[in-house]
Amino acid sequence: MFYYLIRKLLFLMDPEKSHIFTLKCLNSKHMQIFINLFLKPIPSIPVKCMGLVFPNKVGLAAGMDKNGEYINFFNKLGFGFIELGTVTPLPQVGNLKPRIFRIPSKEAIINKMGFNNLGIENLICNIKKSKFKGIIGVNIGKNTQTPIENSINDYLICIEKIYCYTDYIAINISSPNTKNLRNLQYGILFNNLLENIKTKQKEMHQKYSKYVPIAIKISPDLSKNEIIDISNQLIKFKIDAVIATNTTLDHSKIYKMQENRITGGLSGFPLQSKSNTVISILYKQLKKKVPIIGVGGINSLNAAKEKIQLGAELIQIYSGLVYHGPKFIRHLIKKL
Ligand SMILES: Cc1cc2nc3c(=O)[nH]c(=O)nc-3n(C[C@H](O)[C@H](O)[C@H](O)COP(=O)(O)O)c2cc1C
Repeated sequence: MFYYLIRKLLFLMDPEKSHIFTLKCLNSKHMQIFINLFLKPIPSIPVKCMGLVFPNKVGLAAGMDKNGEYINFFNKLGFGFIELGTVTPLPQVGNLKPRIFRIPSKEAIINKMGFNNLGIENLICNIKKSKFKGIIGVNIGKNTQTPIENSINDYLICIEKIYCYTDYIAINISSPNTKNLRNLQYGILFNNLLENIKTKQKEMHQKYSKYVPIAIKISPDLSKNEIIDISNQLIKFKIDAVIATNTTLDHSKIYKMQENRITGGLSGFPLQSKSNTVISILYKQLKKKVPIIGVGGINSLNAAKEKIQLGAELIQIYSGLVYHGPKFIRHLIKKL
């Protein structure tokens, strides 16, 4: 009830400004004292995935804390893991504003952020400063200026720099807001990308005697055959996990609304069934050889359970946190 009142006020503000304002407030020293008093730690229900032990199945999806500025706050909410980023080798401003739009009647968000972030070096500093002992993932992407044919290099730079500071790495080749990025999901480009990142992972493993799993984050706008091709490649290259899915370019679920005209990736409730279809196909193809992390439209306990029944070993939330607040996350963790 309390969150829904605050939400009414926050939703009067521009979405990007309210996002930054809310997180800055919640991360302030005074608020931390309040949070420590009211948010009691949730007992962990450990789950093993990608060779790591997660305190619970519920994670924060990428994009909410792109620069790792709020790690301690998200940890206090109870998340079993936090995926930071998307971060790129160099800092970049992203697309023109406004670039986040809420559709409250559909519990949806459209964004065309375009990987605005302060760069990988800054993220490393923030991870070093945080006191978080749980699982941190870092989601990496390519700089806008890097031509798609050279993009593998951006991923390799990020892997090399972040390797010692993260528990897993997520390769984002599915954001719809960076030109041609999704091409990396197909054919020879995908094959070359997987081959190169596996070689880099092996090199880093030997250098640091530490194995950091790598997950690939895919789009919900793939055809069945494309998902089958991707699954075969994931098995062939022994990729550690697949994250399904990113936001969708399919706005048919909101076609009657004026927001339909806004370009960008749609997330939240209208994405739920699309992301579930991808998870089902992946599960059938992968035959448990590659674990699935399910994300997209989780707005209730039943929606979270459905993703797990379809084969997801872990789940992630973004829009559900915006629309239902911290209590929703704690409810999921306790009930799953
Ligand atoms: C404003 C916004 C920014 C996002 N930024 C990223 C990002 O930088 N990298 C990424 O992999 N996914 C990003 N996402 C996608 C989410 O991680 C998630 O895959 C998607 O929103 C579906 O989950 P949801 O329905 O729970 O929101 C973003 C989503 C939103 C709404």
